[in-house]
Amino acid sequence: MSRQYEKLRKCYEYCRSVTEFQPRVGLILGSGLGNYAKNMKIECVIPYGDIPGFPVSTVKGHAGQFLLGYIGDVPVILMKGRVHYYEGYSMEEVVLPIRLMKLLGIEVLFLTNAAGGINRKFCTGDFMMITDQISNFVPSPLIGENVSELGDRFPDMTHIYDIRLQKLIQKIAEEEQIPIQKGVYVQSSGPNFESPAEIRMFATLGADAVGMSTACEALAARHAGIRVCGISCISNMASGISEEDFCDLDVQAVADRRSREFELLVTQVILKLDSVHQ
Ligand code: HPA
Repeated sequence: MSRQYEKLRKCYEYCRSVTEFQPRVGLILGSGLGNYAKNMKIECVIPYGDIPGFPVSTVKGHAGQFLLGYIGDVPVILMKGRVHYYEGYSMEEVVLPIRLMKLLGIEVLFLTNAAGGINRKFCTGDFMMITDQISNFVPSPLIGENVSELGDRFPDMTHIYDIRLQKLIQKIAEEEQIPIQKGVYVQSSGPNFESPAEIRMFATLGADAVGMSTACEALAARHAGIRVCGISCISNMASGISEEDFCDLDVQAVADRRSREFELLVTQVILKLDSVHQ
């Protein structure tokens, strides 16, 4: 058994000592989007700090807990708060929660985040469905001994964001008349925001939005055979794209402004997952 898998098993066994709940869908809430929990019928709460060896976020507004419960009839595990690479955790630690959710039973992972808009057609407050990603500016979470219990040494990332889930998101956005952009997400290490030259580089490479999470999580999830989808909420235009001052950046205010539509979109996608299940 790999060392990392052994650690995961300990986390898993702790969670199983608390609950037998079997989630099918994992949902990670990005900055400012943490209010979603009110849409769930909660069966069990597991604070990250209670799980042996689990990384606990130090970021304000990232109160760390798993909420297990139902959205409609769908059993869901919601991560309220995530851990970031910039907090000083290793990539292996950053993706431990994803792998733990896999052991607990998830088949689908729904990632959300706040991101800076690089594409000049975007506006603050837009949603962007993630179609692909660039993760090479941070280390791969798969470096080191392969966790062979979860996946292959050289996993294919051609369809890292599941095509059928993307179609479902688009269909629901159309039905609910929620405008949604599409694009490529690039992960920057943070914690600093980027310089204008870095954003120009990302634009040249084909990125539409930039953030400090998500790509490594999607990678680890795909490695473990989880089907992944993601939506960014554009909390600001990236450095040099607009004259906005980062000192005034209020991620929460932007997320609050779009929270009704965000919650509707996420809920409808989760309720209709069966329509795209193989
Ligand atoms: N850059 C990186 N991460 C972010 C940004 C940004 O402009 N906005 C929200 N998360």
